[in-house]
Parts: sequence; structure tokens; C-alpha cells
Amino acid sequence: MSSKSFKQLLAYSIGLIPAAVLVARLLGDDLGANPIEEVTHETGEWALRLLLLTLAVSPLRKLTGWNALAPYRRTLGLLAFTYASLHFTTWLALDHFFDWQAIVEDVFERPYITAGFTAFASLVPLAVTSTRGWIRRLGKNWATLHKLSYLAATAAVVHYWWLVKSDVTEPRYYAAVLAVLLASRLLR
Ligand code: HEM
Repeated sequence: MSSKSFKQLLAYSIGLIPAAVLVARLLGDDLGANPIEEVTHETGEWALRLLLLTLAVSPLRKLTGWNALAPYRRTLGLLAFTYASLHFTTWLALDHFFDWQAIVEDVFERPYITAGFTAFASLVPLAVTSTRGWIRRLGKNWATLHKLSYLAATAAVVHYWWLVKSDVTEPRYYAAVLAVLLASRLLR
């Protein structure tokens, strides 16, 4: 394995530590009264954090010259997709027991689930086309397609904002970070 691939694998493994901690807490019966809710929350927050970190790589490099994260942008994106998939699967399997009718109803009738689904559906083509083969195949369309990441991040923040009952402190914090990241691109 080349040292470059080894570094990517190491970065991906480090990114999976929160998931490993969650599994250990689950096995240790240390997830509180509602383990499914705790797993949903944790995986959702990590998906959003990693998605925003992926979007922060270019502005950070442009504004500060700090380039250390640039080689890991793809790995960060794949980690965001991994946590979003764990989050979505938790909801599908543990929340809805693959009751497809209830799932479809939820997606179309509960706005925060509609927003979450929009975010997840936007991440799927990004994960699929993250390989060198697809980058080559799509050429300059690849960069256009990957602007879907802006929709995914916006839908995820809206999803979080709409699901909280009263205290919007955390969603507001993520919304502010996203606004700065999108504004930095508009300015550019
Ligand atoms: C079909 C896709 C999705 C579904 C069905 C879904 C469902 C849920 C549910 C049921 C909750 C918990 C609601 C509650 O506490 O009452 C939640 C929370 C959350 N989700 Fe999603 N979600 C989806 C996609 C996403 C994606 C793609 C992201 C991020 C990229 C995300 C980020 C979050 C966050 C940040 C929370 C709040 C966590 C907290 O309260 O600490 N979700 N989601």
C-alpha cells in the first residue's frame, strides 16, 4: 500500500472513532433510556459536522493558506456519507423496522424528514462519483455535480432546525458556519 493510501485509510479510521465509541456504548448498555434516539442524534451530528468540514477545506486553504486538509477532502466527504448512512439506516431499521409504507408517509408528510431525505439523496451521487474513475469520466461535469454538496449541507441544516422543538441554539450554530462557507464561495 502506498504511503498516500495508508494516510487516507488512517484518516478514515480516525473518522470512524465516534462510531466505534457509539457501538461500545451500545454494547455496554450506556446509551441512556432511549438508545435508538441517542444513536440517531450522534450519527446525525457527525454527518453534519463532517459535511461542513469537507466544505471548509477550500475556504480554509484560500483564506489561511493552510493546506493540510486538502488531501483528505474526499475521505472527509466519504466519512460524512458513512455517518449519514448509519443515521438513515438507524431510522429505517430501528425506528421503522423497514415498514416502507410508514417510511414513505414520513418522508412526504414530515417536513424535517423530507429535508433529511433531500440531504441524504444529494449525498448518494457524490459518494458514488468520488472515485478517480468517475472524476475522469465526468471531466468538468464532476465539479458541477459536486455542487450538490451545497444542497446537501443546506437541507441537513434545515432538517436539524425543523426537528428541534424549541431550542434552536445548535442548528443556528451550524447554520452560521454553513452561511460563512457558502458566502466565501460567492465572494470567490
Ligand atoms: C432520509 C434521511 C434522514 C432521516 C430519515 C433522518 C431522520 C432523523 C431523525 C428521526 C432525527 C431525530 C429527531 C428527533 O430527535 O426527534 C434526526 C436528527 C438529526 N439528523 Fe437526520 N435524518 C436524515 C438525514 C440526515 C442527514 C443527511 C444529516 C446530515 C448530513 C442529518 C443530520 C441530523 C442531525 C444533525 C440531527 C439532530 C441530532 C441531534 O439532535 O443531536 N440527518 N434525523
